[in-house]
Amino acid sequence: MLNGKHILLGVTGSIAAYKAANIVRLLVTQGAEVKIVMTPLAKQFITPLTLATLAKNPIYVDFFNPENGEWNSHVSLGMWADAYLIAPATANTIGKMANGIADNLLLTSYLSAKCPVFVAPAMDLDMFAHPAVQKNIETLKSYGVHFIDAEDGELASGLVGKGRLAAPEKIVENLDVFFNGQMSLTGKKVMVTAGPTYEKIDAVRFIGNYSSGKMGYAIAEECASRGAEVVLVSGPTSLNVHNCNIKLVRVNSAREMYEACNSEFPQCNAAVLSAAVADFTPQNVSDTKIKRKDNNLEITLKPTDDIAATLGKQKGDRVLVGFALEKENELENAIGKLERKNFDFIVLNSMNDKGAGFNHDTNKITIINRSKEVKNFDLKPKVMVAKDIVDEIEKLLKPLL
Ligand code: CTP
Repeated sequence: MLNGKHILLGVTGSIAAYKAANIVRLLVTQGAEVKIVMTPLAKQFITPLTLATLAKNPIYVDFFNPENGEWNSHVSLGMWADAYLIAPATANTIGKMANGIADNLLLTSYLSAKCPVFVAPAMDLDMFAHPAVQKNIETLKSYGVHFIDAEDGELASGLVGKGRLAAPEKIVENLDVFFNGQMSLTGKKVMVTAGPTYEKIDAVRFIGNYSSGKMGYAIAEECASRGAEVVLVSGPTSLNVHNCNIKLVRVNSAREMYEACNSEFPQCNAAVLSAAVADFTPQNVSDTKIKRKDNNLEITLKPTDDIAATLGKQKGDRVLVGFALEKENELENAIGKLERKNFDFIVLNSMNDKGAGFNHDTNKITIINRSKEVKNFDLKPKVMVAKDIVDEIEKLLKPLL
């Protein structure tokens, strides 16, 4: 509950501004007092009358009232607020905030606010992914601004991707958690491995695989959004992380991943091993580029360290989750791995399921636990699959809380 909390809500000119009505309603239902500052463009998307009626307070847009010269003080708005929530926040507003630009009341209120600031971005997927926007977000994070991550989904443009305003319930939950503490994984540390590994052959070549890392990154984001401190040990991918509770450790080879995992795992309560680690690596690596010859090239491979089996031996009370990508005898092979590597449960992907496994945005999983109970899940986006997996981890972590 947000009983008696003063929430200043900043609304910017995004198509998602209509969702501000819902945010206000939820804040008021939770007992908060809400004042609202809008950018001039935001008024084109939702009327001040709607928001003022729901907030039971007048809306602030201009620095002063031209009728009577009454001054709307951004300083006193910032002093009044226990939290300043900017939702939806456009790329334009985020950019101005990151660069100290103050050409409207919403922005001057940000620059003079002494309270915690929360920003929920909303924009088209390409705008959200643009390095300029990401850099501005990073800058604001470094100033202590809390970001309520944009979601994946259908956008106003008709495109599908990341950039959608987080659900109003989730936005308000973030404030609730901030003031009242405790998310389901608060205080827990989770390690996640993701992506492929690259095993060097010579100065320019490697043996790799098609893993995109999307599943592991989605699990890391889901754990972090539930309050966990996350270490993401990632092989080479084109992905990035968005939640400031995720420490990204980039590695290349199976050996580097093994070393990073061994040093991080002892401090963790749980680990999810979703990386597609190479099973073999060249015995000898050439420092130079191997030259073409007419006869065959033979590369002798030696086995890599089995990270999962190593961690399985030292896991103690920690929750250890593995993955298996199988084509034949799927259940039998997965159960074999679960037992051999001492997992608490294993996530099985079948290579026979369309849209599942490597390099897809969707996945279809089966979870098998130590009692050999089998749970089948539907084909769904990897971000949703991550929720199912983290739900299972949470159940196993609960008794330790
Ligand atoms: N794994 C690991 N270290 C390795 C290989 C695999 O940690 N060197 C982990 C994977 O991240 C996954 C699980 O072990 O969670 C199963 O991976 P998989 O490659 O299917 O297992 P293998 O033991 O290599 O079995 P297979 O004979 O099918 O290759």
